[in-house]
Amino acid sequence: MSASLQNRTALVTGSTDGIGVAIAEALAAQGAHVVVTGRDVERGEKVVAAITGSGGRATFVRADLGRGAAAARELADAAHAVADGPLDILVNNAALLITPGATAEVDEDLIDRALAVNIKATFLLTGLIAPAMAARGHGAIVNMGSINGLFGMAGSALYSTTKAAVHSLTKSWAAEYGPAGVRVNTVAPGPTVTEKIQARMELIAPILAGIPSRRASTPAEVAKAVVFLAGDDAAHIHGATLSVDGGRAAV
Ligand SMILES: NC(=O)c1ccc[n+]([C@@H]2O[C@H](COP(=O)([O-])OP(=O)(O)OC[C@H]3O[C@@H](n4cnc5c(N)ncnc54)[C@H](OP(=O)(O)O)[C@@H]3O)[C@@H](O)[C@H]2O)c1
Repeated sequence: MSASLQNRTALVTGSTDGIGVAIAEALAAQGAHVVVTGRDVERGEKVVAAITGSGGRATFVRADLGRGAAAARELADAAHAVADGPLDILVNNAALLITPGATAEVDEDLIDRALAVNIKATFLLTGLIAPAMAARGHGAIVNMGSINGLFGMAGSALYSTTKAAVHSLTKSWAAEYGPAGVRVNTVAPGPTVTEKIQARMELIAPILAGIPSRRASTPAEVAKAVVFLAGDDAAHIHGATLSVDGGRAAV
């Protein structure tokens, strides 16, 4: 991969933990100044310290994306201040990764929180950031989807519907912002072994048996797909879904 992101600025939501950390590190390794964000200040500062300790550039901005339009606007304003203008890259990665459960047992609060973080915040943040990219004539947005958004899975209705919405938003935004030079794409990981998932491998073990590669993805593998779609090597890729799932979505 030859994508150089020197002099680019990137906002990666949900980069205080899991896959988002790997994405922030990978974008920074390509030269981007990364705005790391999430609710947890301690973890966020740790990610920034690791990036700057390796010679990269990163800034932490705390945000709770479950808190609606005001929180999304504050984050967008802070990220634009770090970038000193429009951002080059937005990665909508933050989500509630919900433990699968029977539809009848999912309570209303969880429905509201999942829709708020996984869909509404993604929608609001893109609406705050993409127009500035479009006005300048270039930008790249990468949404984090999932194999769960591509096909049905018993016990995953709430999470899956939020991810299917993200896949749909990518296509709508490719149509809306593409003509102005803003590329919007999705990365759709299969089960990915973050520290959280590592502690609960029994949840993904049955899925792994049906994956052609017979293993889970790593956060670094998912991050490489994000870096590719965010960079100039993907210059003519709009509205695509890049699966990083060992072939699961194909079989
Ligand atoms: N891991 C997998 O197997 C897998 C598979 C397919 C797709 N995905 C997708 O990949 C993305 C990352 O997943 P992950 O496994 O890395 O999840 P994770 O380890 O649970 O990390 C989630 C990130 O989102 C942030 N976040 C959650 N709620 C937030 C809120 N209200 N406001 C702001 N930030 C919030 C968290 O930060 P704080 O805790 O600091 O708020 C954290 O940085 C998600 O979109 C997920 O759907 C994951």
